Amino acid sequence: MARARPALAMSAAAESSLLLLLCAAAFVERGAALHLCTDRLFNFTQGRHNDGLPHLTPTEEATWMALLPRRLRGGARAEFDWLALYRSLTRGGGPDYGAGKPGPGDLLTPASLHDVRLHGGDDDHLAAGSSSSMYWQAQQTNLEYLLYLDPDRLTWTFRQQAGLPTVGDPYGGWEAPDGQLRGHFTGHYLSASAHMWAATHNSTLRERMTRVVDILYDCQKKMGTGYLSAYPETMFDLYEQLDEAWSPYYTIHKIMQGLLDQYMLASNKKGLDVVVWMTDYFSNRVKNLIQNYTIQRHWEAMNEETGGFNDVMYQLYTITKEQKHLTMAHLFDKPCFLGPLGLHKDGISGLHVNTHLPVVIGAQKRYEVVGDHLYKDISTYLFDVVNSSHTFATGGTSTMEHWHDPKRLVDEIKISSNEETCATYNFLKVSRNLFRWTKEAKYADHYERLLINGIMGNQRGTQPGVMLYFLPMGPGRSKSVSGRPPSGLPPKNPGGWGGPNDTFWCCYGTGIESFSKLGDSIYFLENGELPGLYIIQYIPSTFDWKATGLTVNQQAKPLLSTDPFFKVSLTIAAKGDAQLAKVSVRIPSWTSTDGTMAILNGQKLYLTSTGNSTDGGFLTVTKLWADDTLTLQFPITLRTEAIKDDRSEYGSIQAVLFGPHLLAGLTHGKVPVTDSNHSNDGLTRSIWEVNATNAASVADWITPLPSETLNSQLVTLTQSAGGRTLVLSVSIADAKLEMQEQPAPGTDACVHATFRVYGQAGSSSSEMLQLQGPNVTIEPFDRPGMAVTNGLLAVGRPGGRDTLFNAVPGLDGAPGSVSLELATRLGCFVTTAAAAPRSGRGRGRERRHAGRLPGQQRRRQRERRGGGVPARGELRARGAAEAVPPAELRGARDGAELPAGAAAEPAGRVLHRLL
Ligand SMILES: *[C@@H]1O[C@H](CO)[C@@H](O)[C@H](O)[C@H]1NC(C)=O
Ligand SMILES: *[C@@H]1O[C@H](CO)[C@@H](O)[C@H](O)[C@H]1NC(C)=O
Ligand SMILES: *[C@@H]1O[C@H](CO)[C@@H](O)[C@H](O)[C@H]1NC(C)=O
Ligand SMILES: *[C@@H]1O[C@H](CO)[C@@H](O)[C@H](O)[C@H]1NC(C)=O
Ligand SMILES: *[C@@H]1O[C@H](CO)[C@@H](O)[C@H](O)[C@H]1NC(C)=O
Ligand SMILES: *[C@@H]1O[C@H](CO)[C@@H](O)[C@H](O)[C@H]1NC(C)=O
Ligand SMILES: *[C@@H]1O[C@H](CO)[C@@H](O)[C@H](O)[C@H]1NC(C)=O
Repeated sequence: MARARPALAMSAAAESSLLLLLCAAAFVERGAALHLCTDRLFNFTQGRHNDGLPHLTPTEEATWMALLPRRLRGGARAEFDWLALYRSLTRGGGPDYGAGKPGPGDLLTPASLHDVRLHGGDDDHLAAGSSSSMYWQAQQTNLEYLLYLDPDRLTWTFRQQAGLPTVGDPYGGWEAPDGQLRGHFTGHYLSASAHMWAATHNSTLRERMTRVVDILYDCQKKMGTGYLSAYPETMFDLYEQLDEAWSPYYTIHKIMQGLLDQYMLASNKKGLDVVVWMTDYFSNRVKNLIQNYTIQRHWEAMNEETGGFNDVMYQLYTITKEQKHLTMAHLFDKPCFLGPLGLHKDGISGLHVNTHLPVVIGAQKRYEVVGDHLYKDISTYLFDVVNSSHTFATGGTSTMEHWHDPKRLVDEIKISSNEETCATYNFLKVSRNLFRWTKEAKYADHYERLLINGIMGNQRGTQPGVMLYFLPMGPGRSKSVSGRPPSGLPPKNPGGWGGPNDTFWCCYGTGIESFSKLGDSIYFLENGELPGLYIIQYIPSTFDWKATGLTVNQQAKPLLSTDPFFKVSLTIAAKGDAQLAKVSVRIPSWTSTDGTMAILNGQKLYLTSTGNSTDGGFLTVTKLWADDTLTLQFPITLRTEAIKDDRSEYGSIQAVLFGPHLLAGLTHGKVPVTDSNHSNDGLTRSIWEVNATNAASVADWITPLPSETLNSQLVTLTQSAGGRTLVLSVSIADAKLEMQEQPAPGTDACVHATFRVYGQAGSSSSEMLQLQGPNVTIEPFDRPGMAVTNGLLAVGRPGGRDTLFNAVPGLDGAPGSVSLELATRLGCFVTTAAAAPRSGRGRGRERRHAGRLPGQQRRRQRERRGGGVPARGELRARGAAEAVPPAELRGARDGAELPAGAAAEPAGRVLHRLL
């Protein structure tokens, strides 16, 4: 989310043909210069936005003014004719001029979310071999967050603005009563809940979202002009005067889109009515601005973040068919940005990504609504430019929210503010539309890659309302500390994980939308002679194909790191008579067509001619469907992919992928991680480098996680003692376990304090959080294949009796707490001794003079991080009193039986939490 107004820059070369194409041709006088929109607020020296620059320099403004159509100056025209304005903008075209408008058969229609259900944790599909997929889990977590949000708090600032009594407390973060973007999240909430309603039909959610619409309706009515927002109209005065205002149209777009989604997906007519009245208000504003000043003034004002205002107006026009709505839409088709793209001039470097992608989505809508092929071409070109020169291995784009030099992504991954989640959300929309238009598998492949790698990990496990702003891409980066600028500069962007009550960044808004519509891009319908279905994503789900009476049930076997194939099974059953239909399934680009096996009702299909990624990438089966099963088996392999950087010295910087999944790796042990080499200043080769010189294949230097641990729960085992919280941690040097000070988020120490827990507890059920059960195995996260023994070492071979623990409800009785009992010595629990009180925490002189043993080096590093002296933790059987050497933990000793009744003592508390 750009915070300040971008200024305008001028290109040296005059390019009047551009303006003829896109700007108001009729208004342009001879010799006009091309005005490129550039967000000059990004300062490369500082690596951040330069807030507070003046909007335009006087010279630039004068140049703009020279372009003004005289007859529109000073409100000479009493009558403002929207159609006449539209014609002048489009060189004579009226709303029907689009002879090239795509017909009903030309574009694929996404299946309605009402008809798609992700396979969940408690339905029958699990028994049939599918699992509670990560998609359903993510949707469910988001549903819980949407239900957690309170309609009164979501509308607090709206009520305040309207002069209605407020109820409860306002939210914080970007929704706080003094935030200039306040209300934006409420708009996103309406979009997200409308999609979630369609995807789940959860009636509690419907009641909540309907209340929000009702409240907004009342606010608009109270204000009485059509205006509806949580901030005053004066924000638009500033905007129109080219003064600083934080993107008021951006927020209005969110509110309008939310209300319109409530109408389109949940049939709430009030939503539409509010939007129409709002549009009346904003049309008047724009009309006045153009009449009092000029149309150029409108475009100058637009030179900041206006979201997808064009997009929502085009959508509204498809419903109302009102000329004014079409003209408003086109007035927000930012010409200084779309123009160069129309001429295939790549001028996107330096632009703010999330300001411009929504404009492209609106341009895509224009193609669909009026058949303006120029706009189809613009978005196709934009996608190619971004995808070829500005994307990470995730398929996503942006650093510090901007596009930078093409094919120079090494420079970008040195900074942790990569891939703003909003940009990912919007880029997915662009590629989804391109797929719908072209049926080209490359767009569906891109969608899969970006959805899996750019969205799915942006929600933290199953914690509702914990999401990311940036997704850092560099080696050694942690999501917990994303968003930091290069060192030496104050944090400028929100980073790390947000919280449910007090964050509400733009990426929270798009985040709740993304996880509400995971089912909207699996099935696409084709209107042809025969009903056609494209299945482009392999996500366990059921689709009720109403037009044919067929039900499609998609199962996908959960993928293991050792699997040579990814297996999908589609059953297509007719509710009544068999139905003739065409079904196309995607052969992903990451597999090999030759090795792909497709079996229809037990019979092998030949793929080379039809399903061939260079030739469409789809396998199409046309038949009478009655009760059929199509199974697909895609070879899946490890591979590397070079970073998009055209400097040969960076050729060795590669991403590792397993099918569509970008892998996150762990290479450690060579050099201790210190503050300086963990910073955001660059890549520390010696730490993150893999020496693959002599490797024949990627698999030679990659250790797959054993299958039983793959989906296991990640935990940190903590214990509070002596007023401090200590975590169980594996020493890099000798694989011994020790209790450490709780590490700072995102540090290397966190990795060593993370464990997988599997066995009878922590199995793959959706209730994974219940970490309880007998015979669990605990595996250090960074030592796959090893297990913690009751001797408290990590050993190579899990499964022996000495690697088993019983996880039982915490002895202290605290909710969520577990205690670990040694399976070999029932009644003995893992615990630490209460830490002895210390004077002068940390930095003891004797420590500084200590020798340079690896353990001590690490200790000093932790001290520098401000964590204090590492705990003298001891792990002992409860009840045993003898001292053990510091920092070297021992297991239960023989004879240290737990006395009966001691379970009430709080010392045995070992809390768990999900990382
Ligand atoms: C960028 O930041 C540097 C360092 O603060 C400053 O010297 C320079 O003037 C800035 N550039 C612009 C265009 O503001
Ligand atoms: C809505 O979803 C929540 C969370 O999954 C669930 O507890 C509740 O029962 C659902 N309500 C309805 C009416 O389906
Ligand atoms: C434009 O002029 C009208 C009528 O004179 C006035 O009411 C309105 O405030 C002006 N609007 C702007 C944006 O200057
Ligand atoms: C969010 O707010 C609720 C209620 O005000 C509170 O119980 C909860 O602890 C808060 N959560 C966080 C993470 O701040
Ligand atoms: C894929 O299709 C192209 C074009 O039809 C053809 O040249 C190529 O040999 C095909 N590849 C396979 C593996 O079938
Ligand atoms: C990589 O390993 C090879 C031997 O496997 C060795 O010859 C080479 O020096 C190593 N390179 C680096 C940079 O460590
Ligand atoms: C736990 O493991 C032990 C030893 O492997 C075995 O004898 C016992 O039956 C297991 N208990 C359960 C409940 O699986």
